[in-house]
Amino acid sequence: MKTLLLAFLITFMPLTGMASGSSVHLDEANIDPTDNASLQRGAKYFINYCMGCHSVKYQRYSRMASDLGLSDIQVEDNLIFTTDEDGAPSKVGSLMTINMSDKYAKAAFGVVPPDLSLVARSRSPDWIYTYLRSFYLDDSRPMGVNNSLFKNVGMPHVLWELQGLQTARYEAHEEGAEKHISHLELTQKGSLNEAEYNTVVRDLVNFLAYVAEPTKQKRESMGIWVILFLIIFTFIAYQLKKEYWKDIH
Ligand code: HEC
Repeated sequence: MKTLLLAFLITFMPLTGMASGSSVHLDEANIDPTDNASLQRGAKYFINYCMGCHSVKYQRYSRMASDLGLSDIQVEDNLIFTTDEDGAPSKVGSLMTINMSDKYAKAAFGVVPPDLSLVARSRSPDWIYTYLRSFYLDDSRPMGVNNSLFKNVGMPHVLWELQGLQTARYEAHEEGAEKHISHLELTQKGSLNEAEYNTVVRDLVNFLAYVAEPTKQKRESMGIWVILFLIIFTFIAYQLKKEYWKDIH
């Protein structure tokens, strides 16, 4: 009975988790994992804007290169800024780790920036898409910004030059009562307009979703062939059965 209950819990836990998370409004990322240009741009943004602090340590540069249609030389020349343990630039076969030590990160941000290899699965692409568009100015925070999706976040708004800066507008509230954000308003322009910034974030999320499951594309395209094979094989097996049994009746 206990095992049955445990099996039930394991099967349905993710569903209950999803249900409780749905109270927060998430914008749809609408990513397209087959769009290679978007994945390549996402990799470039990730390496330039995020890898100072976040690793994707289960991924190798070379694997990323071949999956995204880049040559090893292109990656070596344009996308490797980290160094290996001996201080030389990371090799194309290296894992995508970072050089910042946990101790330094803790002192700078109060928390160590997590590895993002699986974040698209643990949080969901829609969550990351919403998160990167939800930073707003807040003088009471050490980084000068807060996030309406991830309250009191330790991460600075690293894409502020692109997006600009947003200010929170609050719902009408009683004096002294807790304030609730109604929406965020862009009060300082960035170098991109809203649609362009959303595309940058979508590309980034697309890349993180790819990193979270690099074989997804292959797995799904192979699945079609496997099913097709099974259908054809069933037909052949049936014909064979008919042939074997035809004289017995
Ligand atoms: C200057 C360092 C720094 C940079 C650069 C940075 N982050 Fe972060 N990030 C952090 C820290 C610190 C946290 C942990 C926040 C916390 O727990 O309060 C974090 C948290 C996150 C989280 C939430 C992870 C989770 O599940 O809790 C995501 C997603 C994320 N960052 C994505 C990005 C992306 C995408 C970029 C590049 C556009 C980026 N970060 C660049 C420091 C950074």
